[in-house]
Amino acid sequence: NWTTGNIVDEQIGRIRDQVGDARVICGLSGGVDSAVAAALVQRAVGDQLTCVFVDHGLLREGEAEQVERDFVAATGVNLYVANEQERFLSALAGVTDPEQKRKIIGREFIRAFEEAERAIIEKAKAEGEQIRFLVQGTLYPDVVESGGGEGAANIKSHHNVGGLPEDMRFELVEPLRALFKDEVRSVGRQLGLPAEIVGRQPFPGPGLGIRIIGEVTHERLELLRKADAIARHELTAAGLDDEVWQMPVVLLADVRSVGVQGDGRTYGHPIVLRPVSSEDAMTADWSRLPFDLLSRISNRITNEVEGVNRVVLDVTSKPPGTIEWE
Ligand code: XMP
Repeated sequence: NWTTGNIVDEQIGRIRDQVGDARVICGLSGGVDSAVAAALVQRAVGDQLTCVFVDHGLLREGEAEQVERDFVAATGVNLYVANEQERFLSALAGVTDPEQKRKIIGREFIRAFEEAERAIIEKAKAEGEQIRFLVQGTLYPDVVESGGGEGAANIKSHHNVGGLPEDMRFELVEPLRALFKDEVRSVGRQLGLPAEIVGRQPFPGPGLGIRIIGEVTHERLELLRKADAIARHELTAAGLDDEVWQMPVVLLADVRSVGVQGDGRTYGHPIVLRPVSSEDAMTADWSRLPFDLLSRISNRITNEVEGVNRVVLDVTSKPPGTIEWE
């Protein structure tokens, strides 16, 4: 009888057997998988675990706080936060090509994560301890097809290759390896994690960096965060979170169109809504959201987000369109 309670107990036992009294490190991305993996390890070995959160400044509104405040409150985990917003913005300055953005974000993420690891390793050394394990939120489907996954998955291939100093070569702890996404969510609920984290829709590792079509700047991120928060709030208020697989909100930063607002002409940017329904993100269809919901989102975004004077709906299936615009 494979209940969530069994899964939790069994995994805690396994983690204790594997880790013993050694120290463990775990990266948090803001997503479900890394949060649940970390919470399981925390239950199993408590203060032997240190989590690392690299805040790249490309998360949505409230997500960094969900990790730094709510996740910590729910689990009592030791958290090391690396505030790297400036670093990512300067690395992305002037870059518009999507693949280039992805490479830069991935590269900087690994560097920032390693610097954080280095700091934690040194602190442990000073206490006469050594970090021996790295937690990965690998799921069963990742094991099978070994693709995609959330931000933290990027770290994996890196840590498996040689070339790293001896004290940075870790053994992997993968407590979600036998689980599917819905099982991971119920384990997360069982462990008392915040609903916003457990119910979070898929969100790409490069974050809002690939939802700004054009150069990523501080102002554009602020603008997109506001528009995205409105769209997500209205979708949730309409009770449609479960119907929609994910709803990227995209800023066409290099496109402008003429509008009329308040007392005059505007020349602003369009926001694209990309709600899709899907089983596995390999194929998708555009979600037939109710017109009154779309209308509410459009009115609120154009009224409340300065610089946006038009909201458009993406009605393309995948294929031919991908879910993300970049
Ligand atoms: P596409 O745009 O290829 O997206 O239809 C399929 C799914 O993957 C997510 N996605 C990513 N996830 N890093 C990730 O961790 C990425 O670089 C990335 N790109 C796309 C996307 O949100 C969708 O769920």
